[in-house]
Amino acid sequence: MRQQLEQLSHVAESELTQATTLTDLEQVRIRFLGRKGTLTQLLRGLSSVDPAERPLIGDLANRIKESFNQAHAARLETLQQQELETSLRREAVDVTLPGRDRLPGGIHPLTRAVEEISGFFRHAGFVTATGPEVESDWHNFEALNIPADHPARDMHDTFYLPPGPDGRRRVLRTHTSPVQIRFMEGRQPPLRVIAPGRVYRCDSDITHTPMFHQVEGFMVDKGVSFGHLKGLLEAFLRHFFARDLPVRFRPSFFPFTEPSAEVDMGCIFCQARGCRICKGSGWIEVLGCGMIHPVVLKNVGIDREVYSGFAFGLGVERMAMLKYRIDDLRTLFDNDTRFLRLHATV
Ligand code: DAH
Repeated sequence: MRQQLEQLSHVAESELTQATTLTDLEQVRIRFLGRKGTLTQLLRGLSSVDPAERPLIGDLANRIKESFNQAHAARLETLQQQELETSLRREAVDVTLPGRDRLPGGIHPLTRAVEEISGFFRHAGFVTATGPEVESDWHNFEALNIPADHPARDMHDTFYLPPGPDGRRRVLRTHTSPVQIRFMEGRQPPLRVIAPGRVYRCDSDITHTPMFHQVEGFMVDKGVSFGHLKGLLEAFLRHFFARDLPVRFRPSFFPFTEPSAEVDMGCIFCQARGCRICKGSGWIEVLGCGMIHPVVLKNVGIDREVYSGFAFGLGVERMAMLKYRIDDLRTLFDNDTRFLRLHATV
């Protein structure tokens, strides 16, 4: 038994020095001194030892335990110190590094403009609708009374796509007006709709990008007149630009409205005195509008004898540039964070 004890003590002490982590160390302690530990088990056999030898063996066992505990405590301290040092090294902060800039997200000026425009019309009882950007020839042109020889149909102005599954020609929509058709097909008045979205034209220079945004609006009901259109758009422009602007309606032409008008507002840059932006005229053109053409109503199955409606379409980039005083259209799409930080809202 004495020999066994001494051998155990040897093994335990060498295991202690080999333990390199706190978990290892605890395992060694349990293996040696735990309830089922090697020393504990050996001492259970003490009763079968010759009574004369028992006190000596007991004494030896106590000394072995004592010396194990001491060696264990010393090793524990060393390992704790080592772990502390590694974790300090791992978590060290280099105070000489430059700080990391946090760039919070923000609302892009175009999204903001769409929200402000739609918000006004929602308050006036308009619902928001959307339509596909890949559009059929029928919705983009035909149903809107745009004749085959209209310049908008030219290959130079429109992105044409290969025919769809039905073999019909498709286009990237050139305006949001097809949403009028899609919404009116299969519905009956009263209708009040606002339709923001992306549109595409084969055009790229300082004042044009091949993709831009429009907001379409229309209302169809009994007795809707040009007066309603005029009142609504004047109120909208004054609200959007937050000032009492002069607004004028100029006769114009669109195939899908009759009569048609273009709307100008007093130049906000020079208080209508004439500047570079308004090309000296004091007026800035902001949108197109008119009374929905009877042919369009017929194309969507609405009785033109009973109902009438108005429609309007505006360019979001233009509105945003005027309101937030952005002078280069392309900066809206450059994703330059310096520009975005200046114009985005949080
Ligand atoms: N769709 C026209 C364009 O892109 C804009 C427009 C003009 C829309 C008059 C309308 C409207 O609804 O009544 O140039």
